[in-house]
Amino acid sequence: MCTGHPLTAGLRAYCAAFGAPAAVAAVVTLSTAIASSPLRAQAPAPTDPAAAAADAAKQLDLGEQWFRSACLECHAVGSLANADFRLKWGGRSAFDLFELIRSTMPEHEPGSLSVGTYASIVAYLMKVNGMPVGTSAVPSDSSGLALIRLAFPAASPAASALSPAASPAALRGTPR
Ligand code: HEC
Repeated sequence: MCTGHPLTAGLRAYCAAFGAPAAVAAVVTLSTAIASSPLRAQAPAPTDPAAAAADAAKQLDLGEQWFRSACLECHAVGSLANADFRLKWGGRSAFDLFELIRSTMPEHEPGSLSVGTYASIVAYLMKVNGMPVGTSAVPSDSSGLALIRLAFPAASPAASALSPAASPAALRGTPR
């Protein structure tokens, strides 16, 4: 259903969300490890934490780049990295955030990015809101995402280093 013929926007979104072969292929460019091991974020690869951390770093880079190219025109980083955002999303699952973004953003073209890209943007938003995300990549499948609880420890070093309130420097370079 997800390959071989032109898709409607709705089908495309569905396929992007639920792992059609085409969508999975796109994710593979992000990291083969994520595709083959969806629960990795919960259970970091026991044998190679360094590789998992490298995956996570790569994903965060990608998430930041995509945020800049697809989201920044409407959202300054600080508008999605602040106490209101953490209050609203804290305690919910990463899947909730992923799904909201995937189904509604970018506003003019919802669902237009790959699931891997949406996952990388979620990872980036987790990071800029102070979650410790560096040990393994955020998965891009719904069940893996659903297992990640968004928790933003207000007192964590990452939060104080990255929160706009605590560190205006974190936002320097943001055009608006
Ligand atoms: C063309 C402008 C535009 C672009 C591009 C855009 N957004 Fe949005 N975004 C909006 C608007 C407007 C809202 C508020 C919509 C609403 O709440 O009804 C919003 C709301 C959101 C929210 C909910 C905010 C909250 O407080 O929970 C998130 C998260 C979000 N956008 C993320 C993104 C991400 C990630 C991207 C890039 C992939 C993106 N947006 C691209 C305009 C945009």
